[in-house]
Amino acid sequence: MAVSLKTLTSSLVFLFLFLSFTEAREVLVGGKTDAWKIPSSESDSLNKWAENSRFRIGDYLVWKYDGGKDSVLQVTKEAYQSCNITDPVAEYKDGDTKVKLERPGPFYFISGAKGHCEQGQKLIVVVLTPRHRYTAISPAPSPVEFEAPAIAPTSSSTSFKAGFVVALGLLVLGLF
Ligand SMILES: *[C@@H]1O[C@H](CO)[C@@H](O)[C@H](O)[C@H]1NC(C)=O
Repeated sequence: MAVSLKTLTSSLVFLFLFLSFTEAREVLVGGKTDAWKIPSSESDSLNKWAENSRFRIGDYLVWKYDGGKDSVLQVTKEAYQSCNITDPVAEYKDGDTKVKLERPGPFYFISGAKGHCEQGQKLIVVVLTPRHRYTAISPAPSPVEFEAPAIAPTSSSTSFKAGFVVALGLLVLGLF
């Protein structure tokens, strides 16, 4: 009985550890709610924003827009370059789109509204693995890269969670 309880408790500790290391971030595309639109200039473009942001595996991209007028299409590189809106990889039009970045590499998004992609409403997000940070081919690392991107944290900070895990671990040690 005592053994199985011990197993159960340490399983719980590992679960909390696991959760604290895989905490998902939600990254609002463009850093503001009305960013999914035709950019007014090159410097206002979403790719400019994306270049200055860091994306990690497990992060969620979040788009806010009027679902009646616009949509988010996840597409191939070819479709991205030619602004081809037929047959996308995935289509989102609910106005509150959340896409998980579940692998490293590039993700391509274009607007599904007619003519919008051609006018620059498009986005490439590149998810780097930690390994790639040291052998990066492009883009070249810049000081800007280390500035905090606009992120809406989904929950309490990781350090708080880590503290909780430690406290839980001490409690378990004290019990047995
Ligand atoms: C757009 O993509 C579809 C599906 O991949 C393809 O059949 C079509 O030829 C493409 N259109 C253009 C203009 O490239």
